[in-house]
Amino acid sequence: MKKVITYGTYDLFHEGHLRLLERARGLGDYLIVGVTSDNFDRERGKLNVKDSLAARIEAVRATGFADEIIVEEYLGQKLSDVIRFGVSVFAIGSDWKGKFDYLSKHCEVVYLERTKGISSTGLREEGAKLLRLGIVSDSQDDGDVGAETDFVSGLEISGVYVPAISGGLAGLGKGDMAAAGAFCAKYDLAAAFGTADELFAGSDVVYIHTRRRHRFFFAAAALRHGCHVICDFPLNKPEEAAGICGLVKEKGLVFADCVPLAYLRTFQQLIWLLQGGAIGQVLSVECAMPTHGSFRDAEALAAFAVTRILGTENAGVRRLCVCTRERYDRVVFSYPDAVASCSASGSKWLKPGMTVLGSDGRVNVPGAWWNMSYFKMRTGSEDDLRRYSFNIEGPGLRYLLSEVTQMIAERRGESIALSHEEAQKLVYLLEQGDLL
Ligand code: CTP
Repeated sequence: MKKVITYGTYDLFHEGHLRLLERARGLGDYLIVGVTSDNFDRERGKLNVKDSLAARIEAVRATGFADEIIVEEYLGQKLSDVIRFGVSVFAIGSDWKGKFDYLSKHCEVVYLERTKGISSTGLREEGAKLLRLGIVSDSQDDGDVGAETDFVSGLEISGVYVPAISGGLAGLGKGDMAAAGAFCAKYDLAAAFGTADELFAGSDVVYIHTRRRHRFFFAAAALRHGCHVICDFPLNKPEEAAGICGLVKEKGLVFADCVPLAYLRTFQQLIWLLQGGAIGQVLSVECAMPTHGSFRDAEALAAFAVTRILGTENAGVRRLCVCTRERYDRVVFSYPDAVASCSASGSKWLKPGMTVLGSDGRVNVPGAWWNMSYFKMRTGSEDDLRRYSFNIEGPGLRYLLSEVTQMIAERRGESIALSHEEAQKLVYLLEQGDLL
């Protein structure tokens, strides 16, 4: 029996898919179709897939061309499947030409002409309005939003506004055009907006990437103008967080705190495991974060991670600071039954990482925990080591941007990954540390 295998996402099943399956089936006697899992698509950066895995499998099944349907879950699976199933022909659309030649040692590789004029991407974008993302930045840094937007369908950068800050006060008026021009040249952007109002008028979503004390000012102005907002985390004061919540509700708009960590699958799994008691009762969380920017922003991120693990109830905060040649900050979070701390410093000797100690085990996140793709868990004996990993590329911001496009499409004011209430509680908590 001549077995043929083919793979795809098959989102919003269309004629191109049907024609491909029909021709693939015609190449042999038995067709195996691999449908990508949701996780695999997210890992390889294919975001905004609309149909669930079950719906996509059902669409393939309904064609009647597939004799067997399998799920494609990881990179490298194709070769393993070809050997495992004794496949004679590997067939795929011509958009992949040359990419799977390595399989020809094991089977015939056929690239089938792609049906012209139709694609899942096209269908996803059809009807869905293209969203323009404007940046407000007070530095020559775009917070990676430019590069990350390329991975999110339906989103494009409209341009930048660089406010002219005088006497520490932000205004919406004429911006720093020289700085905006340099910003556009650096990131290859089309428009340097002269005023904040011009940026708001030319954007559907505004990304506020400024010093903490100016975030609320620009976020509130953008919301009042009718723009959705993504804002660097945290806001400066609890009243500001409350004010934003009110505005979002009043205007029916979307506001997302920019905490990419909240959207990372690895972090989510870490939290699920800890909540399920995988290392017993959590006794301590320790993390370290080298920083050359704002210490408070670094601490806010640590506070987010710590409170996801230990909660916001009954938490006390204390900030310790050593300011010699190199600044070193430590924020200590105290709980009735646990303690957590985060060290932040510009010193090159501070090693990034996170350790969670439990009554029955330990978790280590080596390196940049705020961008985690990997962690190790030890329970029982020292030899009992498990590794958990998910491939992510980039700083994780694309997952946040993708969620924002979904929130806008669904008219959902707040994110599933980080609610306004949680963000607001964190701002309150951090202020406690200031008052001590
Ligand atoms: N395919 C095709 N003709 C099209 C679209 C897809 O022959 N017009 C083929 C692809 O080459 C692949 C299979 O159908 O072999 C599944 O493709 P998939 O990536 O799921 O569909 P696309 O429409 O290409 O999806 P996207 O736009 O998200 O990349």
